[in-house]
Amino acid sequence: MVATKIAVTGAAGFVGSTLVTDLLADGHTVVGIDSLDDFYPVSLKRWNLSKFEDHPAFEFQQVDIRDTEALLTCTDSVDVMVHLAALAGVRPSSARPLDYYDVNVGGTASVLDFMLHHEVPHLVFASSSSIYGINPDVPWTEEHLPQPISNYANSKLAGERLVARAASLHGFTATAARLFTVYGPGQRPDLAITNFAAKMLNGEEIRVFGDGSALRDFTFVGDIVDGIRGCIDYTDSTFEAFNLARGIQVVLSDVIHLLEKVLDVDAKVVYEDGFRGDVPQTWGSIEKSAAKLGYRPSVDLKDGLMESRDWFGQVAALALDD
Ligand SMILES: NC(=O)c1ccc[n+]([C@@H]2O[C@H](COP(=O)([O-])OP(=O)(O)OC[C@H]3O[C@@H](n4cnc5c(N)ncnc54)[C@H](O)[C@@H]3O)[C@@H](O)[C@H]2O)c1
Repeated sequence: MVATKIAVTGAAGFVGSTLVTDLLADGHTVVGIDSLDDFYPVSLKRWNLSKFEDHPAFEFQQVDIRDTEALLTCTDSVDVMVHLAALAGVRPSSARPLDYYDVNVGGTASVLDFMLHHEVPHLVFASSSSIYGINPDVPWTEEHLPQPISNYANSKLAGERLVARAASLHGFTATAARLFTVYGPGQRPDLAITNFAAKMLNGEEIRVFGDGSALRDFTFVGDIVDGIRGCIDYTDSTFEAFNLARGIQVVLSDVIHLLEKVLDVDAKVVYEDGFRGDVPQTWGSIEKSAAKLGYRPSVDLKDGLMESRDWFGQVAALALDD
């Protein structure tokens, strides 16, 4: 891919900052857009930004994507828009339906305004495995029926549909990258792996919802970034959805055992009632992504956890409450 100017919303977040680092290393110019919201500590987002904010090919715009006027005027045209900004996370979405709708659907509509106003030719939208919801027929291919059961999952599905329709009406190309539980250095502290690891390092109890039998397709952030890069390059159809998964299911209790080994501490596990928006399993087929994007995830869970140890220590030092 030739060097291009790429806008990344959510650039201060976990996936966004890892992607920006990769794009800058490859010679692209990046406009990072982020509101630095307080969904988790802003200090972690500032730390993410500090890795590249002085790079000559990087420009940061602190903008709330819902503020369409501010978004339209924060930069001129770009070659590609990668839209990652969102309220992420399934559980908090149950208590904040309007906020999730506002940011994830309204904010995406605002990004579509940006696409039209600046005549941007290509959009990558961060969707989620959660849209498949309780569909029991795993592994999920992109053709499987979405059966979302949380406000978060519904907002992501609505975002995808807005993007698909706008692309076909207005003649730009778009991909929806359906991300499966991403982990690695920089992982959001509310997500199971970093939350558990930080608590284990601090000698605290970890709270597992359900009996630990939930199955997840955990995907290392470096593999996810490779997949998003594939989506940036993929302009063969007006709209296409791609699973970005590892393609392997792991039971949650095994993740805890692996963390015990990697961190060399024993976990104190407290089991709590399952959360009704959580799905029992995720598992993505990556056949289509492999064939059309050349996507080849390669990091095994144990290696990915080893690579994340410094990050776990950094979050542990913050001693966050749930
Ligand atoms: N991490 C995962 O496991 C996972 C799984 C599936 C999908 N996704 C999706 O990938 C994307 C990135 O997730 P992440 O884990 O990096 O989350 P994150 O919370 O670390 O990053 C999201 C960023 O968006 C920013 N943001 C939120 N609201 C905004 C607004 N109104 N205007 C501008 N910026 C705003 C936040 O400040 C944050 O920096 C999200 O769209 C998420 O839904 C993530």
